[in-house]
Amino acid sequence: MLAVLLRKLHLRLQLSRAKHRSLAGHARMARRFAGLVPFYEYGEAQFFRVDGAPDEVAAARRAGFMRLSALWQQRHKRNVELTGTVIGGISDLQFTSRYRVPFQFSRFVREHFKSGAFVESSSGVSIIDLDGNRLYDLTGSYGMNVFGYDFYKECIARGSERVCDLGPVLGAYHPVTAFNVRRLLEISGMDEVSFHMSGTEAVMQAVRLARYHTRRSHLVRFCGAYHGWWGDVQPGAGNPLAARETYTLKDMDAAALRVLENRRDIACVLVNPLQALHPNVSAPGDSTLVDSGRSAHFDREAYGRWLEKLRAVCSRRGIVLIFDEVFVGFRLGMGGAQEYFGVRADMVTYGKTVAGGLPIGVLCGRAQYMRRFREDRPADICFARGTFNSHPYVMGAMYEFLHRLDSDAVRALYADLDAVWNGRARALNERLSAAQLPVRIANLSTIWTVCYTQPSRYNWMLQYYLRAAGIALSWVGTGRLIFSLNYTAAEFAEVADRILSAARAMQEDGWWWAQPQLTNKSIKRRLLKEMIQARCSWPDGRPIGSMSSPRSK
Ligand SMILES: Cc1ncc(COP(=O)(O)O)c(C=O)c1O
Repeated sequence: MLAVLLRKLHLRLQLSRAKHRSLAGHARMARRFAGLVPFYEYGEAQFFRVDGAPDEVAAARRAGFMRLSALWQQRHKRNVELTGTVIGGISDLQFTSRYRVPFQFSRFVREHFKSGAFVESSSGVSIIDLDGNRLYDLTGSYGMNVFGYDFYKECIARGSERVCDLGPVLGAYHPVTAFNVRRLLEISGMDEVSFHMSGTEAVMQAVRLARYHTRRSHLVRFCGAYHGWWGDVQPGAGNPLAARETYTLKDMDAAALRVLENRRDIACVLVNPLQALHPNVSAPGDSTLVDSGRSAHFDREAYGRWLEKLRAVCSRRGIVLIFDEVFVGFRLGMGGAQEYFGVRADMVTYGKTVAGGLPIGVLCGRAQYMRRFREDRPADICFARGTFNSHPYVMGAMYEFLHRLDSDAVRALYADLDAVWNGRARALNERLSAAQLPVRIANLSTIWTVCYTQPSRYNWMLQYYLRAAGIALSWVGTGRLIFSLNYTAAEFAEVADRILSAARAMQEDGWWWAQPQLTNKSIKRRLLKEMIQARCSWPDGRPIGSMSSPRSK
């Protein structure tokens, strides 16, 4: 009895030690904390000098802000007008427009940079918005765009021609599916495949099957990793319910290996190899860019060694190792992260790009984990369906995508991928450093993130300078820049020039002015103080201190 209790205590302690010290490492606490953060915002006077900037700096910032805002209004007139007519009816748009910058600054920014959500066409590495502005695309369409938009237009057009005689007949397969299955199994090195409509669903199915076959309850995910928006893989803020059968462990840490080695309730480990760029940190978005604490660095060998260790412990303990390659699959190389890091998983999920531009989620796995029934227990099944799974048009575009993978043109894009993109990042960093700009790039191949080298409250403003310079960013701003592989040297040089000139303009407008004693720690302390003040408002609703609050209006 005592021995059992002691073992339980030991396992509990081991689990605690394997949690990352950040809030992201403590999902329950993160959810509770999210519920406590009060709304408050900076009024116009404070907006430009929340870091204590003197009058002339605040005035320069204001002038720069208003200049960009005027340019924005002039350039995006039609788009802003049309967006204004629908934003009240599209919840997604309301959400993304609110969370582009830290919430304290958000309303004032929204008033001066109204969202324009419409884009009319794409070509080469550019998109053209409703007002005819041609922008270099660094959104990557959430990572879908690996080979350039024209490539996907071709896949969709040719794929549709191939399957149009069948049309939307569901349940049965169009013959192109046979090729897709064969190629996916070759590429993944797995035995079986299942088709889904999104990456989220592919991950759900992988975890469900792992639980079914191991008869264990828990999944392990690593701190900060995104695996779609299903509840069990999103245990922290953003999910109204706690995920009870999920362990969130420290990435690249021996303490996590000890948990995997000793617990008996772990069915699977989910790995998103994109985390190699920023282990234990969530996908970086500019709405959390409250200081300059964002850091990222990719070490291919170190991450490869970590995956080898995970592979070994999972094999020893009968835990299903799942690589979630929805983002990085086909982007790091044809064989994805498995090939790139030289480690084989038990199951792999793909998505985004693999259906040639149409919606998709794919699960490939070893036969022993993919089967949805038991020979000896006919009623004990693992259910998974989906009306649109294997839709003929999706299969048609996937067929074209997989065929083109073998072409010389695509092989050429994959050639020297690391050397090309690491070289481009290095060269840009050298220019940023030479220009004494507090901006640096960290990259995992074509997936880039912007880091800031000096403490500041205003780094999120860079996204507006970049947009003004003709660069399209997704709603997370400078947190994630995604290049397609078809960027030529000349096109990249143009983007690099624009990044440099945007950062220079931001510096000239005074946003990176800082008191010498300012640190990221002091910024965080100040924010905490503001939040406490905002929670402690006077009985009549007026907040204590100089900040304005909706309650006081
Ligand atoms: C690694 C990873 N897994 C799963 C998903 C979810 O895919 P989807 O958005 O298609 O549901 C994403 C999406 O960004 C992802 O990056």
